[in-house]
Amino acid sequence: MKVLILPDEGAAILRAADIVARTVAAQPKAVLGLATGGTMLPLYEELARRHREEGLSFAGVTSFNLDEYIGLAPDHPCSYHHYMEKAFFSHVDIDRARAHLPKGDAPDPQAASEAYEALIADAGGIDLQLLGIGQNGHIGFNEPTASLGSRTRIKTLTQSTRRANQRYFASFEDTPQYAITTGVATILESRKCLLIATGAAKARAVRQMVEGPVSAVCPASALQLHARATVVLDEEAAAELTLRDYYETVHPRGQDSVFD
Ligand code: GLP
Repeated sequence: MKVLILPDEGAAILRAADIVARTVAAQPKAVLGLATGGTMLPLYEELARRHREEGLSFAGVTSFNLDEYIGLAPDHPCSYHHYMEKAFFSHVDIDRARAHLPKGDAPDPQAASEAYEALIADAGGIDLQLLGIGQNGHIGFNEPTASLGSRTRIKTLTQSTRRANQRYFASFEDTPQYAITTGVATILESRKCLLIATGAAKARAVRQMVEGPVSAVCPASALQLHARATVVLDEEAAAELTLRDYYETVHPRGQDSVFD
């Protein structure tokens, strides 16, 4: 795992944006795996700025989001469809016909999950998968004890995740209990992974992901099995790492190593 520690959130976001921009510039038809959550908002803002001011184009890109709440229609203001439209798609030149999210309002969510997994395979798999991390170590909506061999399917959200996401809904009761999420194995099949974590609330999950045992109790720890996983952190999210000196020796101030 490549652990990049940046001085603050702003620097971490710029570093992550560089990695995404480099991928899209080198491979204009890249298949991107996209994520939602508060962590990603400044990243999408920066990518939109680069589109506007620097000509970064997403016109050839295909995208697959990690997850969507079950029961929310795409135009529901708390759906991830709506989040993506507002935070990213409406600000760049991506072709909506190739910007995919799981269908949370499908009459048969299990069939919709299987169809989504097949659609990713048909697109040739994901080149770069963006990821955030939950305070409990989840990636996508793969909650603790999710199978490390899992594929796109329905997951029941933990109370902790529902509480963390409650801020977007009217109340805890209104916060959905179920979601469709790509699986841990789906994520691990991506050719590259880029996980971003910022803020002190993520420090414990980050330690378990990077330095803990590979365990379904922390689904993000499965990234230890991925040959090309990069983790971009700010100081606060990196605060509990015990081998921090080593990561900073290899990647001073989060920059590439001499051999990259
Ligand atoms: C959400 C999403 C994840 C996201 C995580 C962290 O529930 N399903 O994809 O990475 O929780 O969100 P945030 O960035 O708001 O802390």
